[in-house]
Amino acid sequence: MNVFSRLTMTSVLGIALLVLTLSSPTVAFVPIGGDSASHVSITRNAVLQKVTETCQAVAEAAGHEFKPTGSSPEELVQACLGPTATGEVSGAKFSSALQEIYTQNALLDRNFIYSAPHHFNSEAILEGRSLITGGMAAIKANIRNENFQAARETLGRVLHTLQDFYSHTNWVDLGYTEPYVNLIRPDLPLENLADKDTETCSDSPNQNFPHLILPDILQEKKLTSGYFGIFPSAKPEGKCSHGGASDLTSSSGEGINKDERTSGKEALHDAAVNAATAASLELLQDIRLAAGDNDFLRMMGIARSSVLCFVIDTTGSMSDDIAQARATVYEIIDSKKGTQDEPSEYILVPFNDPSFGPMIRTTDPDEMKSEISKLTASGGGDTPELCLSGLQLALTGAPSSSQIYVFTDAPPKDIELIGTIFALMGSTKSTVTFFVTGAGRRRRRSLKTGSFSDYIELALASGGQAIQVSKRELSLATDIILDTSTSALVTVLQQARNPGKQETFPFNLDKTLRNATIYITGTSITFTLTNPSGLTQDQSETSGRLATIQTVGNMWRIQINSTRETGAWKIQINSYQPYTLKITGQSTITFIYNFVESFAGPHPGYAVLSGRPQAGQPASLLLSVLGKKGPSSMNISEVGLVIVSGGEAVTNGTMTDLGNGDVLVTVYTVPEGEFVVILKGTDRVSNTEFQRQSTTQISVSKVNIQVMVDSSLEPGKPFQLNFSLKTEGAGGSYSISARNDRDFSMSYPESLTLTTGVYANATLTITPPADTPSGTDATLTIQATSSSGADSNYVVLRLSVVTKITDFTPPLCEMVSLLMDDCLNNTSQCEPFHWQLSANLTDGNGTGIESITLRTGKGNLTHTPLSAPIILANYNSSCCLQVVEFVAVDKVGNVGRCYYAYDHSGGPPALTLSLPLWLCLLVSVFIVGP
Ligand SMILES: *[C@@H]1O[C@H](CO)[C@@H](O)[C@H](O)[C@H]1NC(C)=O
Ligand SMILES: *[C@@H]1O[C@H](CO)[C@@H](O)[C@H](O)[C@H]1NC(C)=O
Ligand SMILES: *[C@@H]1O[C@H](CO)[C@@H](O)[C@H](O)[C@H]1NC(C)=O
Ligand SMILES: *[C@@H]1O[C@H](CO)[C@@H](O)[C@H](O)[C@H]1NC(C)=O
Ligand SMILES: *[C@@H]1O[C@H](CO)[C@@H](O)[C@H](O)[C@H]1NC(C)=O
Ligand SMILES: *[C@@H]1O[C@H](CO)[C@@H](O)[C@H](O)[C@H]1NC(C)=O
Repeated sequence: MNVFSRLTMTSVLGIALLVLTLSSPTVAFVPIGGDSASHVSITRNAVLQKVTETCQAVAEAAGHEFKPTGSSPEELVQACLGPTATGEVSGAKFSSALQEIYTQNALLDRNFIYSAPHHFNSEAILEGRSLITGGMAAIKANIRNENFQAARETLGRVLHTLQDFYSHTNWVDLGYTEPYVNLIRPDLPLENLADKDTETCSDSPNQNFPHLILPDILQEKKLTSGYFGIFPSAKPEGKCSHGGASDLTSSSGEGINKDERTSGKEALHDAAVNAATAASLELLQDIRLAAGDNDFLRMMGIARSSVLCFVIDTTGSMSDDIAQARATVYEIIDSKKGTQDEPSEYILVPFNDPSFGPMIRTTDPDEMKSEISKLTASGGGDTPELCLSGLQLALTGAPSSSQIYVFTDAPPKDIELIGTIFALMGSTKSTVTFFVTGAGRRRRRSLKTGSFSDYIELALASGGQAIQVSKRELSLATDIILDTSTSALVTVLQQARNPGKQETFPFNLDKTLRNATIYITGTSITFTLTNPSGLTQDQSETSGRLATIQTVGNMWRIQINSTRETGAWKIQINSYQPYTLKITGQSTITFIYNFVESFAGPHPGYAVLSGRPQAGQPASLLLSVLGKKGPSSMNISEVGLVIVSGGEAVTNGTMTDLGNGDVLVTVYTVPEGEFVVILKGTDRVSNTEFQRQSTTQISVSKVNIQVMVDSSLEPGKPFQLNFSLKTEGAGGSYSISARNDRDFSMSYPESLTLTTGVYANATLTITPPADTPSGTDATLTIQATSSSGADSNYVVLRLSVVTKITDFTPPLCEMVSLLMDDCLNNTSQCEPFHWQLSANLTDGNGTGIESITLRTGKGNLTHTPLSAPIILANYNSSCCLQVVEFVAVDKVGNVGRCYYAYDHSGGPPALTLSLPLWLCLLVSVFIVGP
């Protein structure tokens, strides 16, 4: 048992619920976490191993040691990001990335449970392979375009299908222990598949032959898989069944699947799990080689977490603001260089009227400096601008949980986007802070344009702030960007009051929290801060014993003394005007969460909700708590939902530990109105109590939208997306509105008529233009709103556009010469002698080689220009190291490999100058599912 045991004891109801939803036939198939293994545990083992190897390689190349202090994801990230010492490193991005992969992996058991190719059922072996290779091509194209989220989601689905091959076909029954590499190599044929008319199984195994699979199938090593269906007729005569309670093609329930480690099937099950793990590692290695180590790690969410994202109004009146934004960017880049707080990515989106964008995204600080220096204010006045269009680009382009800063002096003109913006903020959990100059001249909201108060609402919903200042004071306000563009930002408390009232807010400052800062926005505010010993300081004391206080525009910034006391603080605020209170700091202790819904079926589990949780039922959330030493160093004492604007309504959740730091929290009474998640606990490393709050506001809805995308779009081809809509509220007409951030043309029904509790199905058709570059991603938001407007919900989907790949041939490597005489003639010492190898690299009729990189060896690799049809690569190395591996990647990500190792056994040099991807270590885990 681990740390959560104390809680699980108090959570009897939670456990009961879990058991009910996950009861037979496959209790082990908890999609996330748990001691019993699953697709998730196979995936986790493979991903963590591959990330560890990659981190090690990156660290070695950079000349520093890779020494994680433990095996938790947090410690892995800390060690991987290297010894750029200052600042805290948060494991939140890596954990979120892992959750995204697991979530999509698990969804195949909900949305595609009866699709044979997704699970290699019913002899859909070629089709299953196509899903894998098509998915791999999409992942590579997405990574190339830095669309890491789309890449992760596809990776999760592809790994599920790949893993199922080993559980659902007879591969391990045939005696194979290693992965079938041809599944991830579309250039290699799938051979010896049992054809339609070949009988493969017997329904009645007898004493002489106790197997279901026929002896000649085993002897001839013919590949087949079990049929799975809800009708007995789904299985042709003489074929194998998948088996299990939910498979009705088998009258006896017997089948050839190895999903569970049931009695009599232990060995086959273990073999399937080992092969599935090794196969997952091979697939990850192929992606890693195609993407390069750095982008592979970025896809996995291993990067410094701070991303600097600016959305800037560039109309005529904005020149002071642009100058200030530029100064802030320069200051952040210059002051944080070489620290963990140095942003890992920069995003800039200009907007005015009538245009917005393009979005500039770069990892190069100098490029960001140059781009922001190019911005000039021109045209227009402080008339309404396309602010929300610019913000939409930033929300879809930035990684989730980013801090986005908007500079403007005019209300939004494109107010029709506001629902989409709320949805995107909800699904990305990014925080938006507005710096509004010139807000003195408030405009009335008309149907066509918004008003400044929309910015206040948007800021609040995302957990950000709307800071109204004069242009003269803007430089003081931008300190907030320095405070918040940090790698391990956490929120301790956030509350809003409208209208304001006198209220005391208690909060807990733990030992690990650094740079604790309180922000209050509002007018006519007075406050008193009290520390745990009862010392007080009020707003008039700008430099007191407890804190340093600044005020600018409508914002107070209260920096708490770094030698403060730990424990129960409070702040009393007096104002009858609306105000917001936000308390943040830097700490490695944080949490990530997703609302989930359980689903039934042959392989029940939990699916992450894209939109708002369901009203009128308990809410479930999956929560991972992160700390310096991983989940085992943390105790959670309380998780609840708290109303941001009300204060009193906190509802407690019951908790069930799912292992690996994941907790399933069930909240029986969900607050009405906008709420956030609050978490309290004890950190065992620093031995203090901590308190954390999520930032994005959430509310429930009676509307439910179900949709899943499992393949990429092709340029110029209409793509049909089926979705289903249901309400538990009043039936009637629900309006549908869909938007995508790429302006791809779409058609869909504008409204659907719903009967309470019954799904209505509809189709949305989206067509990317024929010239859309391969690897582009589009974020699609579908909203459904009741006719009264009182209830609505949304889903946000990432679509990727990938050109149909016809080049499946990896580059070829042929040795031209090897000069080893010096090494062979001087066996007593290797220095200073050298050896040389040269090889011809070609891509046949393929797309052409794009990169050649050294993977193993410390010698010097050179090559002739990549544009030639035959490229000559030369490798020169010290005799002390007699292994070399380099890879050639073509333009669509097919990977060719050159490998040479001198055989010290005395025989002639061993040459493996071909392409097989290397086989990896096996890790033992348990269950493989459909
Ligand atoms: C955080 O606090 C440290 C001292 O504890 C200080 O050096 C640093 O400048 C502060 N960072 C910010 C962003 O205020
Ligand atoms: C911070 O607190 C310490 C201890 O209470 C005190 O000695 C110090 O003067 C304070 N710093 C400031 C800037 O007030
Ligand atoms: C929630 O649970 C905690 C700890 O069990 C308890 O102290 C607190 O009073 C509870 N709050 C509510 C609103 O039930
Ligand atoms: C609509 O979709 C739901 C869930 O996706 C499905 O259960 C239902 O059978 C579909 N209804 C129709 C009429 O196709
Ligand atoms: C390597 O390529 C060159 C042309 O660049 C060709 O002349 C030579 O025969 C090739 N060698 C091998 C071993 O393929
Ligand atoms: C290495 O030994 C071989 C065979 O004895 C000889 O032909 C060659 O010249 C030697 N090379 C060097 C560099 O000494």
